[in-house]
Amino acid sequence: MVVANQKGGVGKTTTTVNLAAALSQLGFRVLVIDLDPQGNASTALNVDHRRGTPSTYDLLVDGAALADVITDCPELPNLKVVPATIDLAGAEIELVSVVARENRLHKAIQAHPWVGTSTEVGDERFDFVFVDCPPSLGLLTLNALVAGEEMVIPIQAEYYALEGLGQLLETVEMVRSHLNQRLNVSTILLTMYDARTRLAANVASEVREHFGDTVLKTMVPRSVRVSEAPSYSQTVMTYDPASPGALSYLEAAREIATKGAPKT
Ligand SMILES: Nc1ncnc2c1ncn2[C@@H]1O[C@H](COP(=O)(O)OP(=O)(O)OP(=O)(O)O)[C@@H](O)[C@H]1O
Ligand SMILES: [Mg+2]
Repeated sequence: MVVANQKGGVGKTTTTVNLAAALSQLGFRVLVIDLDPQGNASTALNVDHRRGTPSTYDLLVDGAALADVITDCPELPNLKVVPATIDLAGAEIELVSVVARENRLHKAIQAHPWVGTSTEVGDERFDFVFVDCPPSLGLLTLNALVAGEEMVIPIQAEYYALEGLGQLLETVEMVRSHLNQRLNVSTILLTMYDARTRLAANVASEVREHFGDTVLKTMVPRSVRVSEAPSYSQTVMTYDPASPGALSYLEAAREIATKGAPKT
């Protein structure tokens, strides 16, 4: 599941780590790949991402095996993480001269022994693999779109929310017709929803009108606990599981789990 939107600060990382945490708490085996040089997902999941740590950079640029860059999330036993270090900032340029540069992540994921159907790889398989994308449509995001089957687009319920979405969907179409036919925009999640404003309600209904059932019924409210959690190196799912933000991410995770029951 590729979590992408080239617009910055819309809740990609928050959505990635909390959906992943919630699904792991529901008993699914989950992998999060941090594909953003900012390393925000790595911070929230409390994994080391200092320079030199085995990371997505090694995976993409040096061709390291996925198994050699995966680490455990200390708080959540069913959750594994590939951290991103600041080195990844150079990958966008370093990859330009590499053969099959948009296919590197896909190859690395498919080569892992826990990726595939349960008949192929057994019960140890990952039920979900999440990729947290940076806020751009460069080679990093392209690698994610080529590797992915489903796309999750977080949309912030505010005035400029739909701006830039056209360009994102055009990119998806380009990827579908030339690089990855399986890619499907399966999930749109409204984030930072402020129930007190009419604007948020208007944006939400516009998004639903436009995208129909792709939009999850659950919306994530704006909540201080959600934004505090990363400063304690936690997801809100462990930091304050009873808070409205955590409950809505759990509900969203349930919707995803029942809607797109993992293939067996
Ligand atoms: N539901 C929420 N309630 C309150 N704050 C939130 C919520 N969701 C996200 N935030 C805060 O909004 C900011 C942006 O969120 P986040 O980092 O997830 O966005 P992003 O799309 O990953 O950003 P970038 O484009 O930089 O990668 C963060 O400070 C985050 O803590
Ligand atoms: Mg982010």
